[in-house]
Parts: sequence; structure tokens; C-alpha cells
Amino acid sequence: MSTPTIEVIRRHGSVRNYKPDPVPTALIETIVAAAQCSSTSSNLQMMTVIAVTDADKRARVAGWCGNQTHVAQAPLLLVWCADLNRLDRICALRGYSQVTEYVENFLVAATDAAITAQTAALAAESLGLGICYIGSIRNRTQDMIELLGLPRLVFPVMGMTVGWPATPPPVRPRLSTDAVLHWELYNRDQDQAVRDYDRAMVETGIYEGRQVPVPGKSDAVEDYGWMEHSARRVCQPARTDLREILAGQGFDLA
Ligand SMILES: Cc1cc2nc3c(=O)[nH]c(=O)nc-3n(C[C@H](O)[C@H](O)[C@H](O)COP(=O)(O)O)c2cc1C
Repeated sequence: MSTPTIEVIRRHGSVRNYKPDPVPTALIETIVAAAQCSSTSSNLQMMTVIAVTDADKRARVAGWCGNQTHVAQAPLLLVWCADLNRLDRICALRGYSQVTEYVENFLVAATDAAITAQTAALAAESLGLGICYIGSIRNRTQDMIELLGLPRLVFPVMGMTVGWPATPPPVRPRLSTDAVLHWELYNRDQDQAVRDYDRAMVETGIYEGRQVPVPGKSDAVEDYGWMEHSARRVCQPARTDLREILAGQGFDLA
């Protein structure tokens, strides 16, 4: 069974090769306005998105993201931010003071940002645009905060390149639905589904020449697949400065 919306969802592939044509301002506004219709925790709308079209800025961000060329190439970079700053102002106007030191407050704001971002992604894809999330903006979070002039209580959760695909992106397989859809109780028996997916991903050829380096581990692992790739990603600390940067932005989650 399918619908036009499900078809758009099924055709998704991250786009890393864009035409130079800009995304018209009116279209960007349409996409963000549609995304704002997403559910939002208690209707607090704790998010802001910064649209970056300036080529010099995008080139700088691309460098910070480990020279991901698509970040400079895409005509638009959307930076999705968790935003409690607006509520801070509202509290001040109404004579209250906002509580911001709990993980809960940051979690709901980051969730709002992510939900809105994904709705925007679908809106963009339904218009024939391509997108790619860019978590690598958090390689240089403090620099991003300064580049975008983000005030206290605003935190850049992730970027998203948007533009017209130069080539259609590959559609990558996912884990079998059995592995992620459990009925009534958590199902711990997922090894076979994971192994099957490991092989399906090897067949896409995605890992050729793209092994994650791990100190002391050879790149020449014979059965390098989704399992090895994923394990290598999560066995090493990443972006260990984030707690400190969050505190600097007023999210003192100690
Ligand atoms: C939060 C998030 C951050 C991501 N960061 C990056 C990134 O920095 N660079 C990139 O090229 N892709 C990035 N991606 C895209 C994923 O690699 C991609 O969605 C995943 O490999 C599945 O491929 P597909 O989107 O083509 O189906 C990110 C995706 C998400 C959801």
C-alpha cells in the first residue's frame, strides 16, 4: 500500500551533488512554513532555523565539516537550532524566570528542532529538491555559534544542505522492519536481521575506500560492512566539547 507522501519518503536518499541553481526565497519560506505545521512539544515551538545562502559562509562551514564539498556546493544550508531564547524573553515579559538547567528542557528543544527539520526535508523532497543532514557542523560548534550570531539558549543541533540534485541519489536499504518494530515487548533477538542488513549494505558498495579509521585497527578487514562500520563509529569518543559549549550557551545540564 502506498500514498504520494509515502512514495516521497521511500525515494529519499541523501543528496551530495547539487546543481548551482539557487532555491528561490519564496520556496524556502514555503518549506519552512510547512515544516512549522509539525507537532511541537506543548506548542512551545522551541526551534529556529537559520538559512545560510552566502557562498563564503557556506565554504567556511564546509571546511569546518571536514571539507564536505556538498556543503559549499549546495545553494542553501539550513541550520536547525534548539531555541529556548524566545521563551526566555516571553518569561521576562510575563514576569517569570525560565528553568533551563534540566536535560528535559534541552531534550524537548532539540526534539522540536529535529521534528521540524525532517518535515522540512519531506516538503523539500516533495518539490524535487534534495537534502542532506549535516551533523558535522558540530565539529566546530562554537565557530558555528559565532558565525550565525546565536544568542544564549540557542544551540545548533544540525545542518541540512538543500538544492536541486545534479544526479539522483542512491536509495540505501534499511534494517528490516522486524528489527525496529517490536510488538508489546522489546525484542532482543536481532542478530540475524543485523547480519542480513550488514550484507545488504556491503552489496551497495558504499564502504569501498570509506572505512572509518580506528587507531591500531587495519583498514583491510575482510568482512567490512554495516556492523564493522557502525561499531567503529561508536567505539570512539566524538565532539567531547559539547557539554562545555552547551553550558556556555546557557544550557547548564550538570
Ligand atoms: C543528524 C544527521 C546528521 C548527518 N550528518 C551528515 C554529515 O555531516 N554529512 C553527510 O554527508 N551526511 C550526513 N548525514 C546523512 C546520513 O549519513 C544518511 O542519512 C545515512 O547514511 C542514510 O543514508 P540516506 O539518507 O541516503 O538514506 C546525517 C544524517 C543525520 C540524520
